[in-house]
Amino acid sequence: MTSATTPPVTVIVGGCGHVGLPLGVALAGAGQRVFALDIDPAKVAKVNNAEVPFIEAGLPEALAAVRAAGTFEATLDPTTITAANTVIVVIGTPVDEHLNPDPNEVVTAVTGLAHLLCDGQLLVLRSTVYPGVTRRVAEALTQRGLRLDVACCPERLAEGVALPELRSLPQIIGADTPAAIERAVRLFDGVAPSCLVVSTAAAELAKLFTNVWRYLKFAAANQFFMLADGAGVDYAEVYRAITTDYPRARDLPAPGLTAGPCLFKDTMQLSAYSDNTFALGHAAMLINEGLPSYIVRRVEEQFDLRTACVGILGMAFKANVDDTRSSLSYKLRRLLRFRAARVLCADPLLDDPRLVPVAEVIAEADLILIATPHDDFAGLEFRQPVVNVWDMTLRIRP
Ligand SMILES: NC(=O)c1ccc[n+]([C@@H]2O[C@H](COP(=O)([O-])OP(=O)(O)OC[C@H]3O[C@@H](n4cnc5c(N)ncnc54)[C@H](O)[C@@H]3O)[C@@H](O)[C@H]2O)c1
Repeated sequence: MTSATTPPVTVIVGGCGHVGLPLGVALAGAGQRVFALDIDPAKVAKVNNAEVPFIEAGLPEALAAVRAAGTFEATLDPTTITAANTVIVVIGTPVDEHLNPDPNEVVTAVTGLAHLLCDGQLLVLRSTVYPGVTRRVAEALTQRGLRLDVACCPERLAEGVALPELRSLPQIIGADTPAAIERAVRLFDGVAPSCLVVSTAAAELAKLFTNVWRYLKFAAANQFFMLADGAGVDYAEVYRAITTDYPRARDLPAPGLTAGPCLFKDTMQLSAYSDNTFALGHAAMLINEGLPSYIVRRVEEQFDLRTACVGILGMAFKANVDDTRSSLSYKLRRLLRFRAARVLCADPLLDDPRLVPVAEVIAEADLILIATPHDDFAGLEFRQPVVNVWDMTLRIRP
């Protein structure tokens, strides 16, 4: 470990991913010596070459700066952990194909590193964890004779704008001892503008509730949209009437495909935590996951898909990112493949051999669906009918 004159060493387990990399770069920029420990050799090589493996505003410049300063390094070597003052774990809790979260995943990942962890280190859980995981991790380490300070400091940043949000949003610090609180708050010195200190149990739930709240709001928006649209009422008009200069409805989101690596998964985590009594969460899941079928049904009412080539523009889960995790564009593709003669998909931000160029979709398709509202699609001109699923109408525009 470091002396008072050398910078503190932080190792981030899962450090080359969407959560770990912006944080690691920010910590290195704030004076820490950071190692991004990862199991993916391709990502490690890229990051050490100062290339960011995904789209994230401001990160390429910030990574280049800390690489040039020699304060940030990606590594495949887990033994870096032994020299760390702080170990941050960003490995997540996956939900399986039966929608069950595996709360043991994070505990197993940390205990798998127990032989490398040392007394006196600060261990921070940064990913969204199943409630109670932080306490289980702390107990598991104690049972192995290790004395670490353990904290849960969940990340609440929107993908694509992680760095600016890290610098502008308060950081939740979940810790149950004065030492863990003091050290976790110090970790975010010069990175986050302020810290909110709560218990580990409160931090875990705060993070889950934050994501689930967002998922529920999108579900309300999507349900309203389907109700109005299904009744033949122009939802754009309804939305304008609700939200214009009316403060209590200002946060009603626009309808759209609700996807990505976190919201659905975390709603299912909360559902499992409530012994599957979280009826509101299940209803939200049915609505949000049901929107692609509703879109296809509405399109089918207006267009004979059976002999048509349908083009889908946008396969990333949201605008202007290159992340396809849990993207509903793929669900849309599956539904359309069953109904249409041919389906062609394009996304200019993705490097995926199953996709074709945007120009090919525009040249070949009889009908186009814009499934992700990338800025790149804004100026496109189409010779065929188009449905933009983000336009608050599923009427086919000639
Ligand atoms: N992406 C987001 O916007 C976001 C926001 C908040 C919370 N989270 C949470 O953070 C977790 C991680 O998300 P992410 O988006 O960073 O995922 P990611 O897939 O982008 O990154 C995870 C990284 O961990 C690496 N990894 C996996 N297992 C490892 C191991 N055993 N040792 C070392 N490295 C390992 C992977 O190679 C990858 O680079 C998610 O489960 C989610 O709960 C994500």
